[in-house]
Amino acid sequence: MITRNTIDRVFETARVEEVIGEFVQLKKAGSNFKGLSPFSEERTPSFMVSPVKQIWKDFSTGKGGNVVSFLMEHEHYSYPEAIRYLAKKYNIEIEETEQSDEQKHQADERESMFLVSEFARDYFHNILFENEQGKAIGLSYFKERGFTDDIIKKFQLGYSLNEWEAFTTEALNKGYNLKYLESTGLTIVKQDLLSSTGTKQFDRFKGRVMFPIHSMSGRVLGFGGRILTNDKKAAKYLNSPESEIYHKSNILYGIYYAKKSIAKEDNCYLVEGYTDVISFHQSGIENVVSSSGTALTENQIRLINRLTKNVTILFDGDAAGIRASIRGIDLILEQGLNVKVVMFPEGDDPDSFAKKVSDEELKEYLNNNAQDFINFKVSLLMEEAKNDPVKKAGLIRDIVVSISKIPDRIQREVYIQECSRIMDISENVLFNELAQIDKKERRELSQRPNIEKPVTPILEKTPQFKKIDELKKYEREIIKILLLYGNNEVDFVDFVEGETIDAHDSQPVKKVKFSNVVSNEVYLSLQEDEVEFTDETFKQIYYEVINQLNQSEKISVDSLVNHSNNDISTLITSILMDDEKYILSNWERKEIYIKSKKSDLSKMVLDAIYNLRRILIEKKINTLRNTILEANDSNRDQILETIVDYTFLSKNLNERLNRVIIF
Ligand code: CTP
Ligand code: MN
Repeated sequence: MITRNTIDRVFETARVEEVIGEFVQLKKAGSNFKGLSPFSEERTPSFMVSPVKQIWKDFSTGKGGNVVSFLMEHEHYSYPEAIRYLAKKYNIEIEETEQSDEQKHQADERESMFLVSEFARDYFHNILFENEQGKAIGLSYFKERGFTDDIIKKFQLGYSLNEWEAFTTEALNKGYNLKYLESTGLTIVKQDLLSSTGTKQFDRFKGRVMFPIHSMSGRVLGFGGRILTNDKKAAKYLNSPESEIYHKSNILYGIYYAKKSIAKEDNCYLVEGYTDVISFHQSGIENVVSSSGTALTENQIRLINRLTKNVTILFDGDAAGIRASIRGIDLILEQGLNVKVVMFPEGDDPDSFAKKVSDEELKEYLNNNAQDFINFKVSLLMEEAKNDPVKKAGLIRDIVVSISKIPDRIQREVYIQECSRIMDISENVLFNELAQIDKKERRELSQRPNIEKPVTPILEKTPQFKKIDELKKYEREIIKILLLYGNNEVDFVDFVEGETIDAHDSQPVKKVKFSNVVSNEVYLSLQEDEVEFTDETFKQIYYEVINQLNQSEKISVDSLVNHSNNDISTLITSILMDDEKYILSNWERKEIYIKSKKSDLSKMVLDAIYNLRRILIEKKINTLRNTILEANDSNRDQILETIVDYTFLSKNLNERLNRVIIF
């Protein structure tokens, strides 16, 4: 593991504008830089980098963060990969915590396997272009399939000579260890009592064209080799065996070449084969990966999920294959991805279809024929069940199971409405079915308490979205105030009641002036009411801030921006950049805006605190109102009394708010 020390040094040294400047053309704009968003196609710049705050924000997609999160978004690096990249750029030596001998051994082992695989990739690729047999057989095969030199080079395709141990011999001559040739599966080692060493060895991929398979970051994990003869007994494709570096179920063919385009297009095409991926690239569509002929696994979906929420599955034009894959798609829905489906004409796969039509026609075909998965499934199965009520009942359950996998409640509701229409069944029946599945699932979950899985809530008919949003708005406002002005000392003006005999009478109002550090004022006011943030990330940030105050009496925004929890650093960046968006379109008004903000600081702070308290109180009143219906007589009186108290408090807060606002 990289030490905390190194990570800190990287953050201290790296300049966000320098790093991003290598990927995005930046122009100076006031104290910031601006440029065209690298995450979307746009003509007017909405991408901002702040050298002062050391953060960036892309207003076209809402993304933003620190220097590391830029590399994670743009280059799709993992956190350690991004740190390593920066350390290299700024010549910072990386300290790592001591690895155990076992860990060291394993890391060496894997590294050796990568090196052998990368040697093999280069070797097979060279054979394709330099060797007579390679050119005559391998290259001409790819040419016959219509692949250009450029695309063959891009995908580093190759050819393994039709000889027993041409590759193995060359690798051994070059000093590679037989152990790793065997563990990567490139060489097969068998016992042979007749040989002097007791074993014999030969090339696994003899006589095949080679497709290297890359990790997300471009390392060679293994190979697929396609046979060139029509031998019915031999497998058409042979793949590397499972090993320390090749886990078939964690790999998507083409992900390395597709990742940027997937993020940019915000969609991932999923095809079956190696050649489908390559043909699409040749036709100018790069956001495409292949599951290599097997059903998609959870880990593969997770790879996609890092880049986009939208998957479009491309089906060959044969019905049997479709029916088999449909089940697996629930797994994709379960991870919250949106699934669309495109069918190709009978007898075509994406590769053959792409070759038949122009690039434009292919794009058009994909756009015009993409249908929503649930609709697709309903239509397909309805066709079969049309005149069979028993089948139809089974189908309904089947569809509702698919819908129940979707985590987003609103989306589920929309689907239920759609399906009700297509299947001609009342929404109520479908909702009931859904509730039953949810209930069953929860029962099963409660019997297996160790399984970590969020319980899917039953649909509520009247969700209280508005209140929640308002609450979040003020929670955010308070965090923003703490981050931007927390360390400022401010003169506050407030209005408090004078003393009266009856608490519920209208009261004389006293104007009070006092001065306090903003963070302190916020902390004290919120503590007074025992206010808890409802949003988890806001809550975490709030406690971090309080912690900082306790330790050093100052808020350090930098350390929050570079927080190791990505949720926190992203949120903070977006809060810090709130105002920049305004500036982006109103450069000339910048000065005025900032000045007016400073003078209203006292008002802003009190405003936010009172509003938050007001909403919380309203929420309490609402809850109490609901309990009144079920309460018995004596309880009811007590509840009513509490409601009156709270209502009074709320009225009082509203009055104070009005004064603060008018002032
Ligand atoms: N596959 C495999 N082993 C096989 C057959 C297929 O691993 N014996 C995988 C390969 O990744 C292949 C994918 O399944 O790319 C789809 O198989 P298929 O449609 O039969 O092959 P195509 O990709 O269409 O290959 P080609 O066009 O070269 O025939
Ligand atoms: Mn094919």
